[in-house]
Amino acid sequence: MKHRQTRQRLAKMRRSVFLGCGSYLPEKIVTNDDLANRLDTSDEWITQRTGIRQRHIAFEDENTSDLAIEAAKVALKRASLDASEIDLVIVATATPDNTFPAVATRVQSKLGIKQGAAFDVQAACSGFIYALNTTDNMLRLGQANKALLIGSECFSRIVDWNDRGTCVLFGDGAGAVVLGTEDGDGQNTDRGVLSTHIYADGDYYEHLCTDGGPSTNGKAGVVKMEGREVFKHAAVRMAEAVETSLSRNGFLIGDVDWLVPHQANMRIMDSVAKKLSIEKSKIIVTVDQQANTSAATIPLALADAESKGRFCSGDLISLTAMGGGFTWGSALVRW
Ligand code: UT7
Repeated sequence: MKHRQTRQRLAKMRRSVFLGCGSYLPEKIVTNDDLANRLDTSDEWITQRTGIRQRHIAFEDENTSDLAIEAAKVALKRASLDASEIDLVIVATATPDNTFPAVATRVQSKLGIKQGAAFDVQAACSGFIYALNTTDNMLRLGQANKALLIGSECFSRIVDWNDRGTCVLFGDGAGAVVLGTEDGDGQNTDRGVLSTHIYADGDYYEHLCTDGGPSTNGKAGVVKMEGREVFKHAAVRMAEAVETSLSRNGFLIGDVDWLVPHQANMRIMDSVAKKLSIEKSKIIVTVDQQANTSAATIPLALADAESKGRFCSGDLISLTAMGGGFTWGSALVRW
């Protein structure tokens, strides 16, 4: 009897669960027509090629940490948690306030969190998936109990506003999620993060990067991108990563209730949907309203869907992203 009890206890599996989501978008909105008034572009080109209609742009006195803190406050409220209960803060960002320290430390301080660790994860547009992987591992290992995971970016600070090939694509914003833990049966019916999968291929470093950095020229630089190459890889890699997460957990694409892909371009999302044979109605889309906010797109999309009541308890949600590095990955979550 004693022996059987031990075996049952071992079969329990700790999972990271989403407790609440929040978002913050700067008040200032820049439409495609606004851009067309001062650049050789048009609403028609931007809409047709990307699906983007507008983007939010931070005011001069708004930094990445300010956006992150506002999103975090909403997520904590939705999770019915006080900031003092958080013992891990991770911010996914490629546009920190300062080269160092980490944005997460400012968030920690401003929210009055006095315990645990705070650090940033930098994996460009895949940052949220990479940071979710880290958060999930730390929570499951018992290295933290309640985590605040934020994707926050001010990409408007690192685009060349005279380069129509890149500046029309990006926006600013922050999305935050609060995660805790629950003991499940180790089955794919458990609530929480079922698995995360992250990848990189540094041979593509130059295809999507900034032309500056602290150790090269002491500047942040501006975004340089070989758009078509990035497009091609994004569609293939995101679909592959989703398929891996499904097969690892014994699912077929038909089991997925919602796909939350990185929001860079509607055409990339359509291509991923086609490769996976998933209905477009199952894809959460925010790119039209928010453009590409890099590491913030997935938590912003989660917060948007959650606030509209689109997710039901038990829904199977597939997350995937691809970005500079190249980096890419996926996560499968039972809501
Ligand atoms: O988050 C991950 C990182 N980013 C991405 O995933 C983005 C991936 N790439 C893309 O989304 C697409 O490649 C873009 C939206 C960037 C570009 O779309 P495209 O269909 O690949 O266009 P293209 O770069 O091949 O350019 C086609 C034409 C060019 O003119 P020519 O050479 O054919 O005369 C460009 O100069 O469109 C021109 N063009 C524009 N025209 C009007 C490029 N940008 C603009 C613009 N307005 N804003």
